[in-house]
Amino acid sequence: MLIPSDYFTSPAHYQPRIAILVGCQDNLMALSWHMPISKSPFRYAIGVREENMTHTMLLEYRSCTLNFLPFSSYEAIDICGRAHGGDKLADSGLTATNRDKNGNMIIDESDTVFACDVIDTYQNGDHTLFILEIQETYINISVPSQPTLFFGQGCYATITNNIRANKPVV
Ligand SMILES: Cc1cc2nc3c(=O)[nH]c(=O)nc-3n(C[C@H](O)[C@H](O)[C@H](O)COP(=O)(O)O)c2cc1C
Repeated sequence: MLIPSDYFTSPAHYQPRIAILVGCQDNLMALSWHMPISKSPFRYAIGVREENMTHTMLLEYRSCTLNFLPFSSYEAIDICGRAHGGDKLADSGLTATNRDKNGNMIIDESDTVFACDVIDTYQNGDHTLFILEIQETYINISVPSQPTLFFGQGCYATITNNIRANKPVV
């Protein structure tokens, strides 16, 4: 049964979002406000609060990586969502053997990584939308695809069933 509720005073979000790590130079930031907005050219939008160091760095360096990590790394993601700056690579226990062509970290434990250029920004409310164009993509076929879902308030989950819906033959 649906009851009226104040969404923002509830203890957690009701719609989980996929939590990822934004790598900008030597910094990592947890982020769940993101979505693909164009297939060709391949573009993403991410929402970043102005108070975050990543906001300043994205404006300065105009590039980043989007690192999609499996559920087994949820604690590492959470650590990267608690501090402003610092050595979050060491704190999280993650590793970054390689960098993209702009010097942003590529996290080894990821199952998918997008290396992106910032091509535009859009301010509307308390998050800035950074419009990213994906320049390189990396897939780790040895990592099982169990996405990290974030409900807010430190609550994480993943999917337990993979189902392929049968499409009607036309
Ligand atoms: C799972 C998770 C998701 C988050 N999603 C966002 C987000 O989409 N946008 C944002 O601005 N902050 C988000 N945050 C908060 C930032 O990650 C946090 O403020 C971080 O400390 C910023 O790091 P920085 O100042 O080094 O950039 C999220 C935090 C967590 C734990």
